[in-house]
Amino acid sequence: MLPEGYRRKLLMTTDEPELPGKMEGADIHSDGWTYALNDVELHEGQMTPVYPRGLNVLLARVGGTVYGVSGKCAHMACPLSAGRLEGFTIICSCHDWRFDVRTGRFLDAQELGLAVYATKLESGKLYVNLG
Ligand code: FES
Repeated sequence: MLPEGYRRKLLMTTDEPELPGKMEGADIHSDGWTYALNDVELHEGQMTPVYPRGLNVLLARVGGTVYGVSGKCAHMACPLSAGRLEGFTIICSCHDWRFDVRTGRFLDAQELGLAVYATKLESGKLYVNLG
């Protein structure tokens, strides 16, 4: 049995709802590219959650490149945006699982990982390809 405070924190973090994304026609392209964020809103070495089409995606900019991975941890679905970014490594705030932001791979067991989404910059806007 988990201590009460721990259980409350776990429930709060795993029950994060998917948020409705912007559904304006101009922001969703037929080839899967979906508007996520204005480029100026994501600074070097930072990560931020976005919700294209309501999907929880974490964007991170490292070395000038923007990477997109699932915003929910592969362990128990804690929001990775509450964690921290160290170089190319995302560290989950709940139990410290570490993922490579470039590949989504869990660093301690390569067979586990996060979904990865291609990103692109166009006219000052960041897009995520949801397929
Ligand atoms: S939910 Fe356990 S490490 Fe992320």
